[in-house]
Amino acid sequence: MRLVLVGPPGAGKGTQAQFIASHLSIPKISTGDIFRYNVSTGTELGKQAKAYMGRGDLVPDEITIAMVVARLQEPDAQSGFLLDGFPRNVPQAEVLRKLLAEWDTRLDVVLELVVDDDEVVRRLSGRRTCRQCGRIWHVLFEPPARAGICDDCNGELFQRDDDREQTIRHRLDVYAEQTQPLIAFYADDGILLGIDATGPVEEITERAMSALRRFIR
Ligand code: AP5
Repeated sequence: MRLVLVGPPGAGKGTQAQFIASHLSIPKISTGDIFRYNVSTGTELGKQAKAYMGRGDLVPDEITIAMVVARLQEPDAQSGFLLDGFPRNVPQAEVLRKLLAEWDTRLDVVLELVVDDDEVVRRLSGRRTCRQCGRIWHVLFEPPARAGICDDCNGELFQRDDDREQTIRHRLDVYAEQTQPLIAFYADDGILLGIDATGPVEEITERAMSALRRFIR
């Protein structure tokens, strides 16, 4: 399956992506994770992306698109993938559509996670991420057994730089201006599927999987 997850910052894309990709046995490709890895390891790509990410702005398209095209050409993405965080504006979506058409394929479905802004702020201000395995936690809603330590790998949990309230509000504005138009773009294509992304994490995964079932081939 070739699947895109879309939704505002904090909708739970990363949380759900890890479970959905595992259920479907496809690689999860998160542009945010790839950028953060490059920032933390100090690569040229990371140096280019860092300031944009810190402000909550989108990294320029030419940088982002080149990175995604390279990742989609890797062997594990040939028979399917889950994209988390890409595309994030209409020009990126148009490039993706053209690229897949050149490869004689297309997206099967775009899954929109629907949550309101207040819930987003609650979620992001308590988010913690494992430095080692990338698993996402929340201090109240999904707490690890020991504060600051990942249950899965004992890695150290950290708070993202862009999870400060002012930056969160700016990311929501950027989402409304630049990413929200993708909803109409994919609705026109007939491949948009929206689900309510509030409630317990496992219930949302079940909701997503039952909505996706008819696209599994
Ligand atoms: P990215 O990492 O993609 O950030 P985002 O889209 O803002 O999304 P988040 O990762 O903040 O939220 P999420 O929806 O994944 O929520 P999560 O599952 O963590 O991008 C970061 C930056 O990279 C961008 O700002 C930009 O600069 C750059 N970038 C990335 N892609 C780009 C692109 N295509 N073009 C240009 N620039 C790009 O959940 C959040 C919290 O809520 C967690 O703590 C979780 O435990 C908790 N939670 C999850 N589900 C629930 C639930 N059901 N109930 C209660 N709590 C929950």
